[in-house]
Amino acid sequence: MCGIISILSKKDDVIGDLIASLRKLEYRGYDSAGISYIDDNSVLQTIKTIGKIEVLEDLVTKNQTEGVVRPPSKPSESEFLIGDTEHRSVVQQETDYEELGRGSIGIGHTRWATHGKVSPQNAHPHTSNGVAIVHNGIIENYRELKNSLIRDNFEFDGESDSEVIAKLISNHLKNGLEFIDAFKNTIAQLSGTFAIVAIYDLAPNIIIGTKRGAPMTIGLSNDKLNFYIASDAIALSTLCDEISYLEEGDYVICEKSDQLNYRILTENWESIERDKVQNTISMADVGKNGFEDFMMKEISEEPIVIDNMITQFNCDFDISHYRSIYIIACGTSFYAGLLSKYWIEEMAGIHVDVEIASEFRYRNLVSPKDSLYVFISQSGETIDTLAAMRKANQLGLDTLSIVNVDSSSIAREAGHNLKTLAGFEIGVASTKSFIAQAMAMLMLTIKKNNLDVRIIKNIMHSILLGKDKIKVIAEKIKDSKSMLYMGRGCSYPIALEGALKMKELSYISAEGYPSGETKHGPIAMIDSNVYSIVIAPFDRYFDKTLSNTQEILARHGPVIFLTTDRAIPFIEDLENNNLADCIIFHEDAVPQENQTDELLRPLSFAMAVHLLAYYTAKAKGLDADKPRNLAKSVTVE
Ligand code: G6P
Repeated sequence: MCGIISILSKKDDVIGDLIASLRKLEYRGYDSAGISYIDDNSVLQTIKTIGKIEVLEDLVTKNQTEGVVRPPSKPSESEFLIGDTEHRSVVQQETDYEELGRGSIGIGHTRWATHGKVSPQNAHPHTSNGVAIVHNGIIENYRELKNSLIRDNFEFDGESDSEVIAKLISNHLKNGLEFIDAFKNTIAQLSGTFAIVAIYDLAPNIIIGTKRGAPMTIGLSNDKLNFYIASDAIALSTLCDEISYLEEGDYVICEKSDQLNYRILTENWESIERDKVQNTISMADVGKNGFEDFMMKEISEEPIVIDNMITQFNCDFDISHYRSIYIIACGTSFYAGLLSKYWIEEMAGIHVDVEIASEFRYRNLVSPKDSLYVFISQSGETIDTLAAMRKANQLGLDTLSIVNVDSSSIAREAGHNLKTLAGFEIGVASTKSFIAQAMAMLMLTIKKNNLDVRIIKNIMHSILLGKDKIKVIAEKIKDSKSMLYMGRGCSYPIALEGALKMKELSYISAEGYPSGETKHGPIAMIDSNVYSIVIAPFDRYFDKTLSNTQEILARHGPVIFLTTDRAIPFIEDLENNNLADCIIFHEDAVPQENQTDELLRPLSFAMAVHLLAYYTAKAKGLDADKPRNLAKSVTVE
């Protein structure tokens, strides 16, 4: 969470590159953004604003073309506001330069607020007497540090924990330390998780960064003219062919003389080399490829993900000798785990428990013998899942991670890792990764040679063809205040996933329930304004799901009933009920009904609930890729 990019360059202007990389990092958080750079007069300039990168970019362009508005008086580090109240921005200026010049060293940040409200003052970079820093993570002891800095006459602009970092460095500089030592001494005072990069106007040829518990990637540009420090490899896509990932406690220092020289040091300040890996991320990977948004692109790729998993997934892990499997994850990844519980217990006969990572990591664990602990995560950086896995590793338990980003912390620290093949997922709400995660768990359950996924693909094909029907329904439901998603068996996790997506994207209160449980509470919510979305593939539960649906209709609750053509003979009553909208997808030429098909069919309905959430968000005029308050990679507790 929070994206960081920093550049030390042999060229004379890094501002465009900072903004371009911040755009790629925006999925990590987008409530505010900013850049600092040391201009060609060796003056630190900082521009930061509430809002997305496009707001920052406009502001930067405006400042470069029109010059900055002078504050009425100019105390050092004066702040003043420009722009309207919605997009208020702070320009911090430490001199009276009319224009913001250019610079060959700079840092940039896109924020997901943790400590301190969304405000220009709490946006990064944070500055103090010519020092600027960007920070990803949380400084747990910031209160005591802040109090001690206040005693040393430092004034604070906002409430962010990160602000202490710039002031601490500045304090050490005031006390006579060189920049690098001031940075190092500051880091020694911090507890918490962080990735931090700093620059200093009196040392304009040095950039320094470090990481503890948050990812950090470095690279030299292919032409060797730029050195980058970033929070993840996507920021460096198309910029560096080779990148390195810093390890826990590492520092990186790059200095510019006639060339750019960088070194990596361990926590104990010993020089160390870190492996260089190919950065294979291309623009096609991180572009929209003609789609209106990433989310639509990613939902449309769900059938491709199934093909990739079938043809390329390396499922060399044998679960058959375990007596129990514990699956631990957050958000959508948790629901993929829950779906696989139904599969593994029924098809592999192994006991499965599924648990939310933030609960697992803090409770006393009673671990039966011969248990496997599976950690599912798209990003591989979700801090709760990572901490839960570290706990299992420390206890000497067998750990397996199912992760989409194979350079991530979870993938690297797991006892065994399987990489899902969803490709880059940029939309903040996870969609195609859910399919990849479920497929990975399915392929652990059934060996590839025995797996026939035609039923899933056929239904998905029909869903894509029929997406206009889903769009019409989205228009109808977009103003509702609350919704109920229902399903039984393998459709229950799909109901949960559908409700989560609807909440995330459309801000409509939505709950996922096992259909049989609705009469134990949720049915009290039902009235003509509360929509129920029923996930009803034709399976052993179908009759019961139908009865539960009738119970909703009897109370004048409008129902969206999602099923397939196999159910047509049984839903005449529903189709004739003016409170029900039935969307019937086609199964096509699946040769025979078998037990596996029945268990697999619900997975395809994930695409329908993803599309429903997407179109509802669009109908409400919302940004489907960047829902409010969320971030894709949640690296704080
Ligand atoms: C965030 C995202 C969700 C995601 C969850 C878990 O909350 O917004 O879409 O499901 O994190 O992320 P992970 O990367 O561990 O799968």
